[in-house]
Amino acid sequence: MEERLQKIIAESGYTSRRKAEELIIKGKVSVNGKIVRELGTKAKSTDEILIEGKPISISNEKVYFLLNKPRETISTVKDDKGRKTVIDIIETDKRIFPIGRLDYDTTGLLLLTNDGELTNILTHPNSMVPKTYLAKLDRILEMEDYFAIKEGVKIEGRTVKVSHIKIKKKDKKKDSCYVELTIHEGRNHIVRKLFEHLRYDVVKLTRTYYGTLGLGTLLSGEYRTLSKKEVVELYRYKR
Ligand code: URA
Repeated sequence: MEERLQKIIAESGYTSRRKAEELIIKGKVSVNGKIVRELGTKAKSTDEILIEGKPISISNEKVYFLLNKPRETISTVKDDKGRKTVIDIIETDKRIFPIGRLDYDTTGLLLLTNDGELTNILTHPNSMVPKTYLAKLDRILEMEDYFAIKEGVKIEGRTVKVSHIKIKKKDKKKDSCYVELTIHEGRNHIVRKLFEHLRYDVVKLTRTYYGTLGLGTLLSGEYRTLSKKEVVELYRYKR
């Protein structure tokens, strides 16, 4: 299959698409022995593509990681403020990216991959992947609010669908509690917004499940690769 040269270069893990375009414009890239300067040029992964005379390693191999994200890491590929990103944690020569986001201070299960198709499937607004969170609140959840969440609270004009909610632990002395809840959407900051709407502060937030995938024994900052079976299961969310 023919694809744009900058896309092939970016997917090889050599550099970003934008930098690949710069290299092409500067005449540093050749395809089958000919220098290419045109950005629209297409090539096949079987063509001989050299950058500054050196072949790029083309592999369509897809990789999948399940990370237990630590606090104070950002779920983007790069951060303008130089903060540590989730990509910095994972050792791979592939250009991976996170599937969706967890806040800077949210911990827990985050998937990362170079599989754009799967990412689109899972982050599509209709995908309905269940995600389970454990939230520590600054005060004990009142039964009235517990039932309100169960019924569905409207945030920014849309109801947050919660298929499971359970108070896991109450600390009456410290006036705090842990609430587990499963939601089926991917709006940014949605758990914090949900509780803030009911005047609770989320003191700690961890994602414990993504679909059927759990954190298992992974400690904060640890990660593992997904099995083929797990990847196939994630593809089942395709609508
Ligand atoms: N909801 C939030 O508020 N934060 C997250 O990181 C994930 C879901």
